[in-house]
Formats: sequence, structure tokens, C-alpha cells
Amino acid sequence: MKELGIAVIGFGWMGKAHTRSYLRIPTLFPDRSANARLVYCVDPMESRRTEAVRDFGFAHATADPQEAIDHPDVDAVIVCAPNMLHEELCVAAAQAGKHVFCEKPVGGTPEQTARVELAARSAGVISGVGYNYRWAPLVQYAKQLIDDGVLGEITNYRGRFFSMYGSDPLGLLSWRFEFDGAGYGVSSDILSHSMDLAMMLNGPITEVVGQKETFIPQRPLPKPDAGSHYSRGEVGDPTGPVTNEDYTGALTRFANGSVGTFEASRNIVGPQSQMAFDIHGTKGALRWNLETMNELQVFLIDDNNTHDGYTTVYAGDRFPFHGAFVPGDANAIGYEDLKVIECLQFLNAIATGEQHEPGFKEALNYVSVQQALVSSWESNSWQKVVDVGLQ
Ligand SMILES: NC(=O)c1ccc[n+]([C@@H]2O[C@H](COP(=O)([O-])OP(=O)(O)OC[C@H]3O[C@@H](n4cnc5c(N)ncnc54)[C@H](O)[C@@H]3O)[C@@H](O)[C@H]2O)c1
Repeated sequence: MKELGIAVIGFGWMGKAHTRSYLRIPTLFPDRSANARLVYCVDPMESRRTEAVRDFGFAHATADPQEAIDHPDVDAVIVCAPNMLHEELCVAAAQAGKHVFCEKPVGGTPEQTARVELAARSAGVISGVGYNYRWAPLVQYAKQLIDDGVLGEITNYRGRFFSMYGSDPLGLLSWRFEFDGAGYGVSSDILSHSMDLAMMLNGPITEVVGQKETFIPQRPLPKPDAGSHYSRGEVGDPTGPVTNEDYTGALTRFANGSVGTFEASRNIVGPQSQMAFDIHGTKGALRWNLETMNELQVFLIDDNNTHDGYTTVYAGDRFPFHGAFVPGDANAIGYEDLKVIECLQFLNAIATGEQHEPGFKEALNYVSVQQALVSSWESNSWQKVVDVGLQ
């Protein structure tokens, strides 16, 4: 079996999640095409570098990304640093001939994503992007139902990603809340997941009009080494301005003639991590929500409409990937299991030389919609989606 050396850049939440996932693959997927070897961890924080070597088993840790990228034992680079570093890191990795997996968004702005996609394409390396909700077994099943025509002609799509991670005004001004660190706000951070899933399930979006808002304009400044976007300051701490959007909503049209609505918010109170969709066709409908990711609601019209209504289908080993984690029906899997599937698929793509999907091409598809959305914020009018890779 092939062994592929990996370097993980950025060892916060996502860097650790990817690393744990690579470690779990051998015991879960005997049919895999490759194993990952943990060669380099890169992070400016010394405590995280120590943890990477001591607890996760990386051979080396450094604060210098180029040192890791250039090392001959590194075949693939996994970018889990803050968004505005993605372009530089991904381009450097691709130019060194390394395969690149980048956490979403691939860059903080559409222009950055286009440059990254071009660099990977020119270098001929395999690319991957962290749209992990695609891999939920019941989302994969939903895709099968839609592709098999079980829902008939699709008429309506409703996507949303509502999170409370920024709902506390004392939540720290981490890199996510600053344009210099994250690029755009929720449109880069979480609308990207929602619209990527929509395009996987329902095809390309062709037109968009939307609005945005920043509800919490100031936040306490972060302290050195203090946690993540879930960490909290104190009343009276010095504050700084939030420089990207907390909320965006959009109306869309799809190439297949259906219509869509989308919303993403990081400080709405109530839904805690509601990455969800409803899709409606002429013969049926589906709805799925990350908060109950092991359930799919299915409505199918039949001849006897006495008991019309949504039926709950529980996840189980009859759906894609699920049985690798747990046998039987209604035994649940969790968020990080989706990362394991994602990492497995990326390793397999490198081993077989077949482009991974979602890769940077799919990231470009999303940012092309994002670019049109941003234009609509400014013009207050419908905008056609144009491929930003061609601009
Ligand atoms: N797919 C998902 O569901 C999902 C979830 C969370 C985050 N993300 C994405 O993952 C990325 C990281 O987010 P996170 O939540 O792990 O952030 P985080 O703040 O927890 O971790 C970021 C890490 O990057 C390190 N870092 C900062 N500058 C660096 C540099 N120059 N070189 C290397 N490392 C550097 C930080 O020290 C920190 O350890 C972001 O792009 C985010 O959008 C994706």
C-alpha cells in the first residue's frame, strides 16, 4: 500500500481534526488505497507544535511553512491556517509540486480562490477542499434520490447555515471577524458550505441577489495564545471593529429552472449549528439538518394521500460510508467522521491520480456565485454568475 507524507499547516481546530482523521483511516477503511504518514506540522504557536509531535506523532514541527512544503518526504500539504493565508500557502505547495488540500474557503476572497485554482491546475497536482457536509451518508443518499429522479423536477431549494458562534458580543475579535484575517465574513465562512452543497445536489446557480449585515460591530481584542472564535473576553476589555459581514441572505436561480433562498448567520440566537437544506420537487421533498445529521426527512407523493407527510429515515450501514464507523440502523456517526471520509477520499485520489471532488474547481464554482452576491450587495440588483476563473 502507498504511503503518502503529509504536512498539516495550522494546528487549531481543523488541523487537529484532519490529523486525527488520517490516523483513524487504517482501522476504519481496509480497502483504502494509501496510508498517510505525519511528516510535518506547521504552526506559529509553540504549544501546538509540541502537542503535534508529542500527542499526534508528527516527525517534525516548525513555524516555517516553506520548510515543511519543501521537505522531500512531504507529498501533500493540508492547509488549515486562517483564510487569508490560504492563497500564499496553497500556491507555494502547488508550485513545489505537492498535492494540496485546503480548508474552506480556498482563500478569503474570490480573486484569491481563482489564483489558487490556476496554480494547482498549472502544476497538475490533486486539490481538495473541506466541504465536509457533502460526505454525510444521508446527504450522499439524498444526492442519489435526486439524481434518480425520485423527487421529480426540482422546483425549490432552501439552504441555510445558522450558527451561534458569534452571538455573544463578548466573543473575541478572532481572525474570523476581520477582513484582513478571513476575507469576507459568513459568505466565505459558512454560506460557502451551504451553496456548495446546493450546487452538488441541484446543479449550478446562475443568478443571485442578496443583502448583508454586521450586527455586532465591535468585539473584545484577543489575548495572545487565547483559544479560538469560541473564546470570550470580559466587560471593559479593549475592543476593535468587526470588518466583515455577520449575516448574508440571497435569492437565487438555478440552471435547471428551480429557485432558491439562502441565509447564513454567525450570531443568530436559537439555531446552534443549523447547516440545513430543504429541496422540493414535483413528486417529493427532502430535508436535512446538521444538528440531526443522522436523520433525513423524506416526503414522497403516492396514490394514497391519506398519510401524506415527512417520514424520518435514520442513518445506518445501508447508506454510503456509514457502516465503516458503526453497524446496523440508527447508530449515529458524528461531525469528525465526515472529516475521516473526506481525508480518505483525498488520499485515494492522490493514490489513483484522479482529481478529487470537491477540489479547487468546485471552490471556484462557489466563489463565482459569491462574487455575484457581493456585487448585488453593492448594486441592490440581480447579478448573473460569471466564472471568476475566466475574469
Ligand atoms: N470544514 C469545516 O467545517 C471547517 C470548520 C472550522 C474551520 N474551517 C476552516 O479551517 C481553517 C482553520 O480554522 P480553525 O477553526 O481551525 O482555526 P483556528 O483558529 O482554530 O486555528 C488556526 C491555526 O492556524 C495557526 N496559524 C496562524 N498563522 C499561521 C501561519 N502563518 N502558518 C501556519 N499556521 C498559522 C494558528 O496558530 C492556529 O493554530 C479556516 O480556513 C476555517 O474556515 C473549516
